[in-house]
Amino acid sequence: MSPLVEVRDLTKDFRSRSGSGARNAVDHVTFQVAEGESFGIVGESGSGKTTVSRMLLGLVTPTSGSALISGIDVWNSSKAERKTLPGIVQVVFQDPYSSMNPRMTIERVLLEGIRSQTPRASRAAEAERLLELVGLPTRYAALHPHQLSGGQRQRVAIARALAMNPRVLIADEPVSALDVSMRGQVLNLLADLRTQLGLTCILISHDLGVVRQFCDRVVVMSKGQIVEEGDPDRILTSPTHEYTKTLVASIPMLPPSGPS
Ligand SMILES: Nc1ncnc2c1ncn2[C@@H]1O[C@H](COP(=O)(O)OP(=O)(O)OP(=O)(O)O)[C@@H](O)[C@H]1O
Ligand SMILES: [Mg+2]
Repeated sequence: MSPLVEVRDLTKDFRSRSGSGARNAVDHVTFQVAEGESFGIVGESGSGKTTVSRMLLGLVTPTSGSALISGIDVWNSSKAERKTLPGIVQVVFQDPYSSMNPRMTIERVLLEGIRSQTPRASRAAEAERLLELVGLPTRYAALHPHQLSGGQRQRVAIARALAMNPRVLIADEPVSALDVSMRGQVLNLLADLRTQLGLTCILISHDLGVVRQFCDRVVVMSKGQIVEEGDPDRILTSPTHEYTKTLVASIPMLPPSGPS
């Protein structure tokens, strides 16, 4: 079976003509993600994680290399094919607040991407279905983003992404802006939704502990390159690359792994 996500030699050089900007922010990155897999990308700040995801989402143009989702080349396919991508891949970012119009109700925020396809009469029901999916009370549909907590807003962002019925969900630091107490809850929600909906997930984090809890397989990035790949537990217990050893050593204390 061909992989659902396939990244080949993906490279991004942000250098402008004046020479400013990051050189090889992403440097010949290659990986594949199979349908249903939960794949992690870890690495320190500036290692290129977000740039990889933005190239996958069609938001940053690669300098070279390719990114395919469900066989569609994100950067080299017909306009008609590219138009189908939002129905296949969706994203949740670290800070959902910045992507929510403060004047919109939660119902509108949720239906933003599917409003035109949703008949007026079924919009309220669809918003309720989405709120229930992420464990929020249906009455929240009438509220505005500022009336919700950070964790609740991140649930709305997840529901908004799922409104498109994607097969792939990219989550870029989905819990790093949240209180420690909220992080586990939102991660558990993502894990439940993944199973329930059969989603393929790409989780980006600088936190190996988060990735260990959520991912079947992980790549470690440093300075734009993948330096190590494998099972998260193996990487945590016996990292091979020098950089990964430093990353593992910087984790305070990890609870034993296992079902949470
Ligand atoms: N639009 C841009 N223009 C110029 N340089 C950029 C741009 N976006 C990212 N970079 C640079 O590319 C490199 C990789 O950045 P990226 O945001 O992908 O890293 P990251 O691993 O996601 O970091 P973090 O953990 O802080 O989110 C960094 O040196 C960054 O400064
Ligand atoms: Mg980032």
